[in-house]
Amino acid sequence: MSLTGLFLISFLIIHVCINACIFNDLFYPEDDGDMFNRAAHFMATSMVVRTLEYGLFIGFIIHIIQGYVLEAKNLSRRGKGYKINLANKGSKWYSRTMGLLGTLLLLFLIMHISHFWVPSRITGLEEVEGKNYHNLFILMVDVFHNPVIVVLYVLGCISLAYHLLHGFQSAFRTLGMHNTRYIGMIKGIGTAFSIIVPFVFALMPISIYMDWIGRN
Ligand code: HEM
Repeated sequence: MSLTGLFLISFLIIHVCINACIFNDLFYPEDDGDMFNRAAHFMATSMVVRTLEYGLFIGFIIHIIQGYVLEAKNLSRRGKGYKINLANKGSKWYSRTMGLLGTLLLLFLIMHISHFWVPSRITGLEEVEGKNYHNLFILMVDVFHNPVIVVLYVLGCISLAYHLLHGFQSAFRTLGMHNTRYIGMIKGIGTAFSIIVPFVFALMPISIYMDWIGRN
């Protein structure tokens, strides 16, 4: 789980950086999502990236299966009961609800893939005059003008934050990096990552809904 988790974390870094190109619109509204569209177009047409995409989906599937198997094992152990229930003293609530947080993320992912990946890769996007690439920015602006979808995305990002708060450092512990020399640093980087990345993601639907970007 730790290896697939770290692989998915590396995907999140690339995904958030590419998507953050939409914020160029804040400073140059005339850009109209051009910078983001160029980056997304590269990702959609590069053979290397498209091949890696298969690895990404396989990574997600393995991580999800491993998560449910681990959850089932934990549940069967819990069925036998602990002599002393440490509850909050033993672990944080989000560490004990990784299965639930992961399930919320899975539901988010199904919705998310149907919003963007399916039109981008399967059903096709509208070509916009003068631009020979598919315009994912216009699709984003369209999708994020629905307040219900914006709320669901923000909730998805909150689930991601809590999932990462436990998952990030847990992955390193599993790989054996849990001695006192590294643990403080890993905890610090993990906490910062778990807050910053979901926050930047959440800012995307919010900024579009608020018309801070994409108003042209
Ligand atoms: C909340 C802000 C987010 C926005 C605006 C966003 C936007 C997008 C867009 C536009 C695509 C299609 C890219 C393309 O086809 O070239 C995409 C794909 C994808 N997104 Fe997101 N995303 C967000 C958050 C997330 C999060 C939090 C995750 C994971 C937990 C995620 C996972 C994926 C996956 C797995 C794909 C398909 C693979 C790929 O296209 O590379 N996204 N996203």
